[in-house]
Amino acid sequence: MEQKGRESWGTRFGFIMAAAGSAIGLGNIWRFPYLTGMNGGGAFIVIYLGCVLFVGLSIMTAELAIGRRTQLAAVGAYKAYNKGWSFAGVLGVLSGFFIMGFYPVVGGWSLAYIFKSFTGLLSNTGAIGDVFGAFIGDPVQPLIWMFLYMIINVVIVARGVHAGIELAGKILMPLLFGLLIIIILKGLTLPGASAGLSFLFVPDWSVVKGSTFLAALGQAFFSLSLGMGCMITYGSYLNKEEKLPNNALIVVSMDTLAAILAGVALFPPLFAFGMEPTAGPGLVFVVAPQIFAEMGGFGVLFSVLFFLALMIAALTSSVSLLEVVVAYLMDEKKIDRKKATYGTAVVMLVLCTLSSLSLGAMSGVTVFGVGAFDFFDILTDKIFLAIGGMLLAIFAGWFLKKEDLKDELTNGGTLSFGLFEVWYNLIKYVIPVLIGIVAAVGIVSIEQTSLMIFGILVIVVLAIFSKKL
Ligand code: PHE
Repeated sequence: MEQKGRESWGTRFGFIMAAAGSAIGLGNIWRFPYLTGMNGGGAFIVIYLGCVLFVGLSIMTAELAIGRRTQLAAVGAYKAYNKGWSFAGVLGVLSGFFIMGFYPVVGGWSLAYIFKSFTGLLSNTGAIGDVFGAFIGDPVQPLIWMFLYMIINVVIVARGVHAGIELAGKILMPLLFGLLIIIILKGLTLPGASAGLSFLFVPDWSVVKGSTFLAALGQAFFSLSLGMGCMITYGSYLNKEEKLPNNALIVVSMDTLAAILAGVALFPPLFAFGMEPTAGPGLVFVVAPQIFAEMGGFGVLFSVLFFLALMIAALTSSVSLLEVVVAYLMDEKKIDRKKATYGTAVVMLVLCTLSSLSLGAMSGVTVFGVGAFDFFDILTDKIFLAIGGMLLAIFAGWFLKKEDLKDELTNGGTLSFGLFEVWYNLIKYVIPVLIGIVAAVGIVSIEQTSLMIFGILVIVVLAIFSKKL
């Protein structure tokens, strides 16, 4: 199964679990619920679903096709066709670095909360919010947890595609879904839970603004692991028999289901307890323990399970983020897997330390008006991923041969892909324009103007020097 010595997935189930593992992460369980809460609920969800269906699914299909066709990770895949496009791949690798500049911080919080569940987190319901605030602002504690979290990551990635990433996904993903369902069943039985369901599923269009669309689009890219070469890299480990459009559909559906399940797990209890849905990034860490505290005896058990699930979800995603950078170093710089993994992880740890401290000890230190944590988050989610996705669509639609794409998506004509023309036209004409409009409208309405200009400049500079990258 291995081509030219390249690593590959062992089984179809293994690939799907790994790709779904990449997609399903903090984006679904931590970010999606708080973004939904901050953007008004149901209307945000409808716009989000539109982005997933029309943009996300098409880009996922394109990324997998390009990765498998070239058998190369992000930068190599672009370069194999056109050196002028290397920058789009490098932008992806950079996004991977920057996301890993804050992601393990939240991964560390989840790890910490598994243990805190045992040690009295739930005993004083009134103080759960304060406990969270004090914890993330502490100069030492979150760093230790983040470090531990990073070590698990490094061990998995250093073991390689099959024995590490695939194995982790196969065990951890089914476990995650099981845990979410148990928590939902509990939450729905609380009196007053239905207000949460109407918040989620009855759209209130009056709250929609221009920026809502960018938030939904950015979240779709973030949640589906798109726009940064992650699915190109995972596609490059896929064998030639796999049906790409089917796999893309399965992964996208699982990711969307996970996000909705997370919403259904959190909002009914949140409303039942009369809490505010607009709590922001602390939402999961404040609402979930609150729910478990109210449960009495079994609360601790549920709390442990929930934060375990969150940590698991985060882990299979940060593994893929690390893999994007590692695969680039292996393919393009011929560095061996272990060295690439350790070296990359050290740099990421430095970025994460800055992010974590920006929430407490170093909160006075800002870059372009925000702390390091927000800097990495906004830069990737609001600019790099969406633009990365747009570049990928333009590249696939205008720089690759239509016959080549068709050949890849139908496995050399041996299977049918009835929607090929629809997909192709979406990628070539609709998606670039759509992202262009949403990005333009969204970006001007962003508060941190200097940060936006910086992000755009980075892309422009990379593009100018593309041939040298
Ligand atoms: N999709 C992951 C999540 O939802 C994050 C991620 C983004 C992973 C980009 C890989 C690439 O948490």
